[in-house]
Amino acid sequence: MTGRICASAAGKVILLGEHAVVYGRPALAIPLQGLRAWATLTPHAGPFRIQAPAVGVDALLSDLPMEHPLARIVYLTAEHFGFAPPQALLRIDSEIPVASGLGSGAAVSTAVVRALAAWYGVEAPPEVVSALVYEVERIYHGTPSGIDNTVIAYGRPIYFVRGQPPRPLAVGGTFFLLIADSGIPSPTREVVLDVRRRWEADRERYEGLFDRIAEQVEAAHRAIVEGNAAELGARMNENHRLLQEMGVSAPVLDRLVDAARRAGALGAKLSGAGRGGNVVALVEADAAGCVAKGLKEAGARRVWQSTVHEKNT
Ligand code: MEV
Repeated sequence: MTGRICASAAGKVILLGEHAVVYGRPALAIPLQGLRAWATLTPHAGPFRIQAPAVGVDALLSDLPMEHPLARIVYLTAEHFGFAPPQALLRIDSEIPVASGLGSGAAVSTAVVRALAAWYGVEAPPEVVSALVYEVERIYHGTPSGIDNTVIAYGRPIYFVRGQPPRPLAVGGTFFLLIADSGIPSPTREVVLDVRRRWEADRERYEGLFDRIAEQVEAAHRAIVEGNAAELGARMNENHRLLQEMGVSAPVLDRLVDAARRAGALGAKLSGAGRGGNVVALVEADAAGCVAKGLKEAGARRVWQSTVHEKNT
């Protein structure tokens, strides 16, 4: 008899390259180890049941539509490993705000795959977890690049190009980040669709923007390898400007970005799909408190701290 099993997965933040990554350009992303989703499996007599109180789910697996993201990841995982869903209760809890660009959906799916794999006593290597979670991401996001499921399944900072295995980021210093939640939901699917419509209407302009974003990503990548925070901050600022030009920022995000810079951040930009969601700011360690205060005064609902350093490479 299997005992209680608990697995988790980190949220994520995109450092540079969102949207352009959907069109084959590179992007950089890191896991947010302090912000996690949890999947707990408890043996119980009866068919597989799922409880996710935060999203109002308390149902037998068989009563959920096949395309429900939680049902889908359970079926996909069971099918992949060749087992039937066990006689168990699956409980989902998450610290990651929903629709905020922090990968809550991919983190929940990843935690479920890990919990089921542990239940079955099988290995779930990151490339397998990532591929299973990608199938569910398609329900949420339509045509995702795969960056969210990849960074979350691998659980380390990555340089990512669509369709290629991720490259671990070689981090040459310690970088201090603040992530500020605007409190406005970021409708990833709609924003990605809107960018596609704009790209279809003016491919030359959008391909040019994506190329300029790719240049920022490459320069930021070099800055991370060299441990050059000032340069990384400058690249983040320029990436934000290009995202504004692309039409995916919003006054609330620009306000947070400006507040972070005024309070001393080395760089700041929207992160994720935009129009809402969160802003990421790069700060010097001793400026973190002031920048966090500035972000809150400018309306941030929550501010989280994270560091990127050699240890997470
Ligand atoms: C969403 O986290 C990032 C986007 O680039 C979409 C994607 O890569 O699938 C906006």
